[in-house]
Amino acid sequence: MATRAIFDLSPGMSVGSGVFDDDHRVVLELAALLQDIRPGAEHRALVLSVIGVLDECLGGHFLREERAMRSGGHYRFAEHRQEHVQFRRRIRADLAAYRDGLMAVARDLPYMVAAWVRRHILLEDRAYDGWNKGKRIDRRPLAFLALEAEPKVRHR
Ligand SMILES: [Fe+2]
Ligand SMILES: [Fe+2]
Repeated sequence: MATRAIFDLSPGMSVGSGVFDDDHRVVLELAALLQDIRPGAEHRALVLSVIGVLDECLGGHFLREERAMRSGGHYRFAEHRQEHVQFRRRIRADLAAYRDGLMAVARDLPYMVAAWVRRHILLEDRAYDGWNKGKRIDRRPLAFLALEAEPKVRHR
């Protein structure tokens, strides 16, 4: 796979619902954006912002997906949710590590995110059909979901 193609959502990765495909595209695009930022201390604030936005978008997307899965009777809901929880924990740990001076995070995180998202979509999001076509899918913009996913405002 060409370097750049890892950040593309190919037709074979569609979950059959535009709103979820768009969320997945946003997450992959943010990873690509992070990869495009040249390394260097002068870009530190930008890198922190992009990882922060990525974390928030993941929170919103996971909330939208989990609500749909719960209402659609996903047979492995608990395990699926656990994957989401652990991945966000990992992103937050990387964000903290970068903030503490581990510059390699900016280089490694984009590929780690793309690899995780691709594997998760293909093996988990697409594993069970039915959760993604119901009438109870929350189709509001991702920012609304991201806001709701935060139990309280965090201070960085
Ligand atoms: Fe998922
Ligand atoms: Fe997903």
